[in-house]
Amino acid sequence: MCGIVGYVGEQQAAPILLDGLGKLEYRGYDSAGIAVYDGENIEMKKSKGRLKVLNELTHDGETLPGTIGIGHTRWATHGEPSDVNAHPHFNEDRSIVVVHNGIIENYLKLKNKLIRKGYQFISDTDTEVVAHLLDYYYDGNPLRTITKIMHRMEGSYALGIMFKEHPDELYAVRKDSPLIVGHTKGGCVIASDVPAVLRYTRDVYFIENEEIVRMTKESMEFFSVDEEPIEKQSTHIEWDVDAAEKGGYEHFMLKEMYEQPKAITDTFSPRIKKNDVVIEELGMTDEDIKGIGKIMIVACGSAYHAGVTGKYVLEGMARIPVEVDVASEYRYRNPLIEDGTLVVIISQSGETADSLAALRMSKEKGAGVLGIVNVVGSSIAREADNVMYTWAGPEIAVATTKAYSCQLIAMYLLAMKFAKVRGTITDGELKEYIEDLKRIPDQVELLLNNKLRVQKFANRYLAARDVFFIGRGVDYAISMEGSLKLKEISYIHSEAYAAGELKHGTISLVEDGTLVLAVLTQEDLYKKMISNMVEVRTRGAFVMAVTNEGNDEVERAADYVIYIPETNRYFTNSLAIIPLQLFGYYIAVGKGCDVDKPRNLAKSVTVE
Ligand code: AGP
Repeated sequence: MCGIVGYVGEQQAAPILLDGLGKLEYRGYDSAGIAVYDGENIEMKKSKGRLKVLNELTHDGETLPGTIGIGHTRWATHGEPSDVNAHPHFNEDRSIVVVHNGIIENYLKLKNKLIRKGYQFISDTDTEVVAHLLDYYYDGNPLRTITKIMHRMEGSYALGIMFKEHPDELYAVRKDSPLIVGHTKGGCVIASDVPAVLRYTRDVYFIENEEIVRMTKESMEFFSVDEEPIEKQSTHIEWDVDAAEKGGYEHFMLKEMYEQPKAITDTFSPRIKKNDVVIEELGMTDEDIKGIGKIMIVACGSAYHAGVTGKYVLEGMARIPVEVDVASEYRYRNPLIEDGTLVVIISQSGETADSLAALRMSKEKGAGVLGIVNVVGSSIAREADNVMYTWAGPEIAVATTKAYSCQLIAMYLLAMKFAKVRGTITDGELKEYIEDLKRIPDQVELLLNNKLRVQKFANRYLAARDVFFIGRGVDYAISMEGSLKLKEISYIHSEAYAAGELKHGTISLVEDGTLVLAVLTQEDLYKKMISNMVEVRTRGAFVMAVTNEGNDEVERAADYVIYIPETNRYFTNSLAIIPLQLFGYYIAVGKGCDVDKPRNLAKSVTVE
């Protein structure tokens, strides 16, 4: 996610903006910029790369005099990381300038409309559309102009805006992206997040959706989208900077778990149009989709686990043969890639060495390659023939949660799209799947709010060793991810096992007190799973089950049960993963492990 800052007051703005952006660096970014108004002109400096570059470009702000300005750190979603795509963005005559955090979902439609009206664009961003839209509706009244664009934009935004004709006024507005404002000595500040303002004030106003703020060095006024003045109460922030960077959560991992509902929504909603799945970035015609003979999913770690889920969902829904492999094996086994094979490389970072090598080898063998990537402009995103982004935003914790959940969503969207085009599901079924998809964010939130129940269970097992995660079908796939979460942050050995495979040897390891987490969300496999749970329990295991609400029968075969809300059989991984993430997290916290930076691990494995 991007970070915005703004200042209007008696002091020089540029140093304050640069300082604020520095406090937002932890959010992850690929470029940065500031614009400052000296009363004559609005001057801007922006560049790809670290904030250091911007500090050098502006001599720590000295080259941009003026007491009102806006700044931005960009996490690219639309348009590669580059100088021209960095924010701020101007309208054509540089009389309006804007910074933006969020995704304008209908930006293409608005952009085409503006182009038809003669507007010229220089960047690939959705934010430049906002700058020209402000220009289009500007009638000398900034507040009215802002409300007009609010009625026309869809998606999420936190905007900082300056108008040349109003040299003493700074405007801000939000919908779905965070925005706070506060008073400083002789002025006002705006920011995406608390750490950027803590140096100036601990009393902030959290801006609600569709609220607009007009600030001068002496005043701060709040308005509704109907231009009605509104009263707001400030909130006193007790957090220290470290806690503030985590939004008050103890760890980035927990913060990112709680960002899953929004990340999931951001990933599917631009691709659901009425009752159809539209994935423009696929670059495939219906004929291309009908011509797919096989899908080869290649990835590492959690991304690989998402691919295993993808296999079950794509084969089940779209009836396309799917093979899944870990990139470090795939790249050295000289795989057979027949005509009509679509290779899908899944990667959060887009820089994983093995996955990148697998992509290059697949292309050399003549396969079409689709990247499913979280970091815009990363190597895998650039080298894939087509890329479908997960819009999880920057993920700081080494153990992935929200990016993985968005990879699952990408698998569902592909399966729904392919199944619809190939006629293996009806319009009615697609409609139901879309309804189920739309319910997932709230269901995830519900499970996250049930965290104390998981925490209580986890605290009993801090001394656990050799934990087993068992499941069948997609529940086997999610067991892999649950096991990895536990291993990588708590350092407890665990393994995921296809439940039906236990009796072929591994069950010999089960003894008194062995902890087994059984995932059973597939109704047609309940009975088989319950038998497996009874098998391990009679050998002394303690069983925690994750199952669907209403499957009470499981109580007789489990010592502890976590229920997940109702969804269709293909989407249960998105819900079952939540208690498993929480379980691994609370075990690691209870053991005093470094949850966000586990030993021996890196966020992006760019070496073999
Ligand atoms: C997952 O929690 C790990 N951080 C790791 O397995 C990760 O999924 C793997 O290294 C792949 O990374 P990528 O998605 O960036 O390619």
